[in-house]
Amino acid sequence: MKFAKVTARLDGLGSEKWAVHIEGRRRAALGERMIFLSIGEPDAPPPQAILDEADRQMRAGRLRYAEGRGEINVRRSLARLYTRQTGRAIHENQFIYLPGTQTALYAAMMTVVDEGEEVLMADPYYATYEGVIAAAGGIPVPIRVDPDHGFHLKARDVEKAITPKTRALLMNTPSNPTGAVFTRAEIEKIGKLCEAHDLWIISDEVYATLTYGNTVFASPFDVPELEKRTIVVSSISKSHALPGFRCGWIAASPEFCDRCIPVTETMLFGSQPFLEDAMAFALDTHFPELDAMKRAYEERARALVKALAGSHRVSARMPEGGMFVMVDVRKTGLSGEAFAWRLLEEENVVTMPGESFGAGGSGHLRVALTVSAEEMAEACKRIARLAERI
Ligand SMILES: Cc1ncc(COP(=O)(O)O)c(C=O)c1O
Repeated sequence: MKFAKVTARLDGLGSEKWAVHIEGRRRAALGERMIFLSIGEPDAPPPQAILDEADRQMRAGRLRYAEGRGEINVRRSLARLYTRQTGRAIHENQFIYLPGTQTALYAAMMTVVDEGEEVLMADPYYATYEGVIAAAGGIPVPIRVDPDHGFHLKARDVEKAITPKTRALLMNTPSNPTGAVFTRAEIEKIGKLCEAHDLWIISDEVYATLTYGNTVFASPFDVPELEKRTIVVSSISKSHALPGFRCGWIAASPEFCDRCIPVTETMLFGSQPFLEDAMAFALDTHFPELDAMKRAYEERARALVKALAGSHRVSARMPEGGMFVMVDVRKTGLSGEAFAWRLLEEENVVTMPGESFGAGGSGHLRVALTVSAEEMAEACKRIARLAERI
């Protein structure tokens, strides 16, 4: 049988990135004790009150077809959130409720990128970006960012990468995997280039609530001149430790939303009203346990950086945000991939090779901050031990 071209474009963009993790899982299933630092899944439980709200709404009969854009209550909650964040009036017609950031990314790409058009992104980049661009027929254009400058994307490198075929910049702040957080000044500088070349800015802000130290989150959507070309994609997967709820959204101009709705409706025909209610409740409520979750990530990151500070072979910088730390293994002479495999084989610690996130991640491991402080300390000991042996 003949399959559509999209299946060929996406072939090979998937599972090999996760080979170390999959092997770790296989060994764990056979009874080996492994430390998993490979997956960005919150280890803290979600606030119980959000689960209760979903349950209450489900039992109250919120099980009918939902409005295609998302129910009005959830879009009102989003409008309040973004009005607070931007300091401008943001309206309910500037949102589409979607099942998770990934779906929102897909819908955004399908709405603005045509076959053969180029999409810029910082390299290293989140593992699904190549696929989501390729699904729309676009061509990913990675722009290397320098680990020795905190993996920040420079406007002059963006400028060099722009061609007549460039249609969009896909940015991710705070970044997975690097932990870099764009400053407002960086966004304004890069935004000017996007204005000059009439590019869309797709801004993946799934880690927006997770910033550390003095770092302040900023979005291109906050900049009034960039609002009409910015498409924010986000969710409560990380902020509220609820990846399984698949509650996410797009924030963009009313014109973008009107054009995007037919794209999402042909696939989804709406979402689950009781989960939309739960997300509205989550966005409208302050949960102290989520502050504690964020503090725990920050403390683990600081502990990891400190634990590796004594090593001459491996090092790590404090991330500005997100749920990951990049561990630099370049001085061992091994690639991130080779180091990650040896760490799995010899020390039972499962990490993601930096190369899984593009060539810009080479010579690094991505470590998720989703294990207890004790496990993290033990993993650091083993990482340093292996580095000394090499
Ligand atoms: C940068 C980034 N974007 C998107 C996603 C997907 O998030 P969601 O669960 O909201 O689809 C993830 C998940 O790890 C991520 O790290």
